[in-house]
Amino acid sequence: MTLSSPIGIFDSGIGGLSVARAVRERLPGEDILYVADSRHAPYGDKSDAFIRDRMHMITDFLLAQGAKAVVVACNTATTAAIAELREAFSVPIIGVEPGVKPAVEATRTGVVGVLATPRTLQTHSFEKLAARFSTDVTLLVQPCPQLVRQIEALDFDGDETRALLREYLAPLLSEGADTIVLGCTHYNYLAEQIAAAAGRDITIISTEDAVAREVGRRLDMASLLAARENGGQGKFFTSGDTGLFRRQLDCLWGESAVLDLFEE
Ligand code: SIN
Repeated sequence: MTLSSPIGIFDSGIGGLSVARAVRERLPGEDILYVADSRHAPYGDKSDAFIRDRMHMITDFLLAQGAKAVVVACNTATTAAIAELREAFSVPIIGVEPGVKPAVEATRTGVVGVLATPRTLQTHSFEKLAARFSTDVTLLVQPCPQLVRQIEALDFDGDETRALLREYLAPLLSEGADTIVLGCTHYNYLAEQIAAAAGRDITIISTEDAVAREVGRRLDMASLLAARENGGQGKFFTSGDTGLFRRQLDCLWGESAVLDLFEE
């Protein structure tokens, strides 16, 4: 592993591309290897054991490709097993967690809503996070079991997606929430639609920039930051349909992207 080794990033699908984008912007000299475990998306309806196995398999793959650090760009996977992943592998492993702390700092009404997968909201690690920050504010949680599928299908603006957003936001807004935490990286692609569906001034909190900052910090600590300042390349793998992944990348990544199949 050297300074020029790539950063590995993975998600159940395309939500983590928003994290990869933030990493690209903050650390433009770094190469990125991205795995979308699209055949198994969403992770939100899989068991912890299944998610854990996939996380180990994908991390093994990324390290075999030379990754110098691994970003678990999926809230569901982070809450399921990041501690075990860190025990099993010696490279820096960075996860994502719902931005409850910045939301608590941002709210004016004292009511914060968290949108996430049912699995994330049920975990002990989310409960601990919520307990830590909910002493001074009312923290409302809203499971959104259907949203990841809509986003994987690139349906950001369709009637069904908009109806789901109205349904998921209604209980939060009626309790006075003025700050909404996007507790799943897929939802980063719905920030505008969430603001529109809320129909009033709300603050939306996502954490991809904070995660990219943390990636830079961890690489710096390990003296692994790329020597060059620009020119990093991206390579993308999917365990699912490569035709769909190509369309997803064209829509969400933009830059020309090398794509391959992740066959495990
Ligand atoms: C999922 O795969 O169900 C959601 C991914 C996430 O929680 O970020």
